[in-house]
Amino acid sequence: MLTATVDLTDPQLWARPDVGTIVAELRQRGPVQRTNTAEDGPVWSVLTYALGAEVLTDAATYSSVGGSLLGSGEGTTPAGAGKMMALTDPPRHRELRAPVLPYFSPRGVRGSAERIADLADTVIAEAVERGEVDLVDVLAQVPLAVMCDLLGIPAEDRDLVVSVCDEAFLARTPQGRRGGHQKLLPYLLGQVMQRRMQPADDLISTLATHRIGGKLLPIEDVVLNLDNIVVGGVQTVRHTAAMSIWALLQHPDCWRRLQAGEVALDTAIDELLRFTSVGLHVLRTATRQVELGDQVIEAGEKVAVWTWSADHDPAMFDRPDELLLERTPNRHLALGVGVHYCVGAPLAKAELGAIYAALLDQVGEIELTGEPVHNSSIINFGFDHLPVRLTARSAVGRTGDKFLLKG
Ligand code: HEM
Repeated sequence: MLTATVDLTDPQLWARPDVGTIVAELRQRGPVQRTNTAEDGPVWSVLTYALGAEVLTDAATYSSVGGSLLGSGEGTTPAGAGKMMALTDPPRHRELRAPVLPYFSPRGVRGSAERIADLADTVIAEAVERGEVDLVDVLAQVPLAVMCDLLGIPAEDRDLVVSVCDEAFLARTPQGRRGGHQKLLPYLLGQVMQRRMQPADDLISTLATHRIGGKLLPIEDVVLNLDNIVVGGVQTVRHTAAMSIWALLQHPDCWRRLQAGEVALDTAIDELLRFTSVGLHVLRTATRQVELGDQVIEAGEKVAVWTWSADHDPAMFDRPDELLLERTPNRHLALGVGVHYCVGAPLAKAELGAIYAALLDQVGEIELTGEPVHNSSIINFGFDHLPVRLTARSAVGRTGDKFLLKG
């Protein structure tokens, strides 16, 4: 049995400038290795793209019911197991995913494109006016407002929802994260009870009145699935956007080319998703004894697919550690693959596109004003703080050659 020499569950590892080299060396030692994690006990780490995709596209052998993310604690079953979309296997999984799909389909998202673009323009315009901002806070406002729109969350509750989301995903201990969910769940429960009585045209009402085999979905399952969508939909976009801006700070030429219109934004969005892969990993549990690469995995053992490592695998991506905005094809795993492929992917891309377009259009200069502070999470790896000064593009000049991005 090959045991990993590096603890991939250490968030400090992912903040290191030489993380690419460390992970590449580990991947070269073997595509599947045993990692002894502090929180979840022994876990199989899958490091290559081919084997990562093999795991994620075989839901019968690699189940999501025992958890889809590390960090819930050894031997602990997550609260939503078998009830929450991300924590179910087919056929139950399909029954939970089908009702929410229209909200996130490319067609559904196109209907909101104008609203998302306006929102991003307003959020960035306000930030530019303030000048010195924490980009992590600024960027969260877009997915949060979009999510609240989708769910039909009243305006006065929106700040509460974002602070609780932060706690639920980014608290340093499993207990802290559970505490965050314990605050979000009663809030969502109240909203679900209201919509069962008086349904409106929103996602909460759709799930609150959803029937499977003629029976209403139990209230608890409705709440858990909403929790899954809220938390999954806000933090991922926020951290992908912040890490992408950080990546562009290191590659000023990429930003200049984007601003000059030399690269299609859609293509660049996928490359930034691949390059940052903020989710870092996805977890499964083996349902039977199975051979994976050169290792034998026993039924009940945990298998973590390190999506960041897969997305930087040279066997799949040419020059994987370079940010090549025109990269096509770009079949990265940042949004997953298989039946659990991110249901919010079209929405996430629309939000990221709107944020980048607003920044490209309005911002002439981004300058760091302090040390960025990485968060301590291997669920959504990113920053707690990214302090910057934004200078209006009009003040710097609107031609590509005058654009400046300072790190
Ligand atoms: C850049 C932003 C995003 C990233 C990087 C991301 C990443 C992912 C990944 C890797 C998965 C697969 C998990 C697995 O295989 O177990 C996933 C699933 C999921 N995502 Fe996203 N996501 C993003 C945005 C969103 C948004 C905007 C929403 C909702 C509004 C969302 C909701 C979900 C849900 C509900 C699932 C579970 C789907 C299922 O089990 O069928 N995500 N996401």
